[in-house]
Amino acid sequence: MNYLEGAEKYYDLFGEKDDVEFYVEQAKLYNGKALELGVGTARLAINLAKAGVETRGIDTSRYMLNAAKANISKLDSETRSRLHLEQGNAVDFKLLERFNMIYFPSCSFDHILDPLDQRKALQNIKDHLAPAGVYVFDLYLVPEIKPDKDWFVQRKELDATSYVVRSGYHTIDPETRLMTLNMWYEVYENGRMIERYHEGSQVYIHDAEGVRKLLRETGYRILHEYGDHHGKKYEKGDNIIVLVAQPE
Ligand SMILES: C[S@@+](CC[C@H](N)C(=O)[O-])C[C@H]1O[C@@H](n2cnc3c(N)ncnc32)[C@H](O)[C@@H]1O
Repeated sequence: MNYLEGAEKYYDLFGEKDDVEFYVEQAKLYNGKALELGVGTARLAINLAKAGVETRGIDTSRYMLNAAKANISKLDSETRSRLHLEQGNAVDFKLLERFNMIYFPSCSFDHILDPLDQRKALQNIKDHLAPAGVYVFDLYLVPEIKPDKDWFVQRKELDATSYVVRSGYHTIDPETRLMTLNMWYEVYENGRMIERYHEGSQVYIHDAEGVRKLLRETGYRILHEYGDHHGKKYEKGDNIIVLVAQPE
């Protein structure tokens, strides 16, 4: 299980992304209601709601949803009234509404580890799309799937006297296509560590051919394939693929 207690604390601090404009523009283009799968801290959903889009969000993690609720509580009442969040899993959520755009951003479809569940999720998403609705998502890609392991360290300032250090270690198992990520957060105040905790997660590493096949076999056609969130056409070797798909 990913995104347990603590995952929400510094998600926004370390989670800078350049995808806001892309998802807001897509939501406006497919004009109508939007549903975000894995809504997290509502980083994107808030921007859609600010742009006038009626936005629902589901997430498996109650910790991320609590952070989202705290962020939403700071908004004006009109924007707040366009946002509706609840706990749910992309694989088997059931809602009565149908959506013009369902989106699963920040490579979060990768969190569905079992290929059978990936198919169930795609089927379920299709069942929740309005006629001519689209499924928009992005996936992290690696140049070649091979046994791999590596460390990284990042530091972010909280204020003049405190900062957070996040260090991570990942391994890739080519047989299962699973990447396991362990991260440690250390919070420092006036030069002394005041908190340390661990966050673990796993993701499934897709490749472009594999996801095209998955979409074809679950009854979607691909409308667009981008290699970033600024409209660049996807090319082999890009480290992300952004897909806009529609049920056949
Ligand atoms: C990388 S975060 C993205 C958060 C947010 N969408 C954003 O772009 O900032 C992934 C989120 O997906 C959620 N998640 C993972 N698997 C999920 C699933 N099967 N169904 C719904 N949410 C899921 C996690 O709990 C987490 O909040």
